[in-house]
Amino acid sequence: MYSQGVNHVPQRLTLRYEGKAKKVYNTSSPDLYIVEFKDDATAFNAQKRGTIANKGVVNNAVTACLLSYLEAHGVPTHLVAQLSEREQLVKAVTIIPVEVVVRNLAAGSFAKRYGVDEGLPLQPPVLEWCLKSDALQDPPMNDDTAVALGLATPEQLDELRALSRRVNALLSDFFAARRLRLIDFKLEFGLTATGQLLLADEISPDTCRLWDAQTGEKLDKDRFRRDLGRVEEAYQEVLRRVMEG
Ligand code: TMP
Repeated sequence: MYSQGVNHVPQRLTLRYEGKAKKVYNTSSPDLYIVEFKDDATAFNAQKRGTIANKGVVNNAVTACLLSYLEAHGVPTHLVAQLSEREQLVKAVTIIPVEVVVRNLAAGSFAKRYGVDEGLPLQPPVLEWCLKSDALQDPPMNDDTAVALGLATPEQLDELRALSRRVNALLSDFFAARRLRLIDFKLEFGLTATGQLLLADEISPDTCRLWDAQTGEKLDKDRFRRDLGRVEEAYQEVLRRVMEG
């Protein structure tokens, strides 16, 4: 379990927000929330729904490990401590509704949009913004759109870009050491009440594409999205490798 020296765990209070994969609770401390990871799985902006046994347990542990690793390498994150199998204590942030997608190899919507094969190496790694909106199916947007819609300032976008590229370098190394290729992933950031920008949300097989470095086997949510079978086993395998060393 990861803890950045929390000496008092606040009490879990009312449900603040329920998303597709997590619930967020208020706590007795106004600047802390408790996040609970669920087994519910959705894909294609919730058009496909199901559950993946123990996904919440895996994603909580994987997220806690990865955020703690990133924090130790200079990336500010919302993680305070992993509290239990499914719960994390996090700093209270307001999520910026700009999802950051980083792609090292073509896959998913990118391969489809540009008519290229999955697995095509992308140099430089491609960074994309998407509006966080299920109703609109997370449409891609450029800098001007994000600024004109009042979602972020140009300075915040610069900071999101720099942090996301740094996260990509750090996570690519981390996974490579565990025989996994980081194909692409999605990040969300938030602002604290005092305006500090923090990496938030989760980093897990739900939000990353991870392929076995030797065999190319998909070990992420694409197994659920595409009905490839052995979904739970893939999540467990990622957890096992993340916890190595
Ligand atoms: P995409 O190829 O479907 O655009 O997805 C790119 C990456 O972002 C992939 O690793 C999955 C992740 N992702 C999310 O975590 N949430 C989302 O809502 C979407 C669309 C993608």
